[in-house]
Amino acid sequence: MSESHLELSGVDIEFPTPKGPFKALDDINLLVDRGEFVSLIGHSGCGKSTVMNIVAGLHQATRGGVILDGREVDQPGPERAVVFQNHSLLPWLSVYQNVELAVKRVFRKSKSRAEMREWIDHNLALVHMEHAAHKRPDEISGGMKQRVGIARALAMQPKVLLMDEPFGALDALTRAHLQDSLMAIQADLGNTVIMITHDVDEAVLLSDRIVMMTNGPAATIGEILSVDLPRPRDRLALADDPAYNHYRHEVLTFLYEKQKKVESAPAGGTGARQTSPAGPGPARAASDETRRRARETTA
Ligand SMILES: Nc1ncnc2c1ncn2[C@@H]1O[C@H](COP(=O)(O)OP(=O)(O)O)[C@@H](O)[C@H]1O
Ligand SMILES: [Mg+2]
Repeated sequence: MSESHLELSGVDIEFPTPKGPFKALDDINLLVDRGEFVSLIGHSGCGKSTVMNIVAGLHQATRGGVILDGREVDQPGPERAVVFQNHSLLPWLSVYQNVELAVKRVFRKSKSRAEMREWIDHNLALVHMEHAAHKRPDEISGGMKQRVGIARALAMQPKVLLMDEPFGALDALTRAHLQDSLMAIQADLGNTVIMITHDVDEAVLLSDRIVMMTNGPAATIGEILSVDLPRPRDRLALADDPAYNHYRHEVLTFLYEKQKKVESAPAGGTGARQTSPAGPGPARAASDETRRRARETTA
């Protein structure tokens, strides 16, 4: 039997705070297959970025750990490239130079200058940014900056592409274009992708599986939904596809019924975790439906 590609096992993390240790994650277990597209969804502050930062090697788990292709993750590395919500391009470098920096870091010893140039151009072309190669980040739109961030990550030829709300700051149309580009690129390259999102439609459209996290503190994986929709996926055709809407409903139910956020709940203490990993907690009060509707409209 072949070993798993990416494995998170028994991951806990506690952050030191002035009031004592804060347990953000409790017993996160997840196996990800090569080429799989996995989304992490959950309410703001539940611990999604923390999970990703542990996979990226930016944080160390307090207990448990991460194994990628048989090797323990204990520091950042180019085989786990990260795309952040706010592009994080260096403002004084051109689009080309931003990608070049990453390419040099990874391929300085294995590619000639000409090969590196070709590889940078190739990756800019993948995200349709070759025309703006010599512009600086402040001369291009937010959507274009995210494209460059994706090109920079892909140019490192990562085993795993980690994306933390990559399209969260973009308008709906730009976001839709980038989602379609990402699906096309992933179909072509077969990257393993872990993407954080709080957009239910984005999660269903892009993912093979959606990992739904419970609210923190001590957040864990509540449910995992497999999205068995054929690819390539077309957002228009799916809009009134019953299977698509069923998946969407499952995620909404998890977020707004099973894990509804109680804003007034005191921080920390007992009972802050609302459900067990196995499923929803005790019966909900009648007013939940009203609150759920109110939240869905603000989502
Ligand atoms: N370095 C840190 N020190 C203390 N607490 C942290 C740190 N990083 C994250 N947290 C806390 O861990 C929880 C999860 O944060 P985060 O992973 O950023 O959530 P999400 O990405 O789901 O919005 C939050 O309560 C946050 O305040
Ligand atoms: Mg986050």
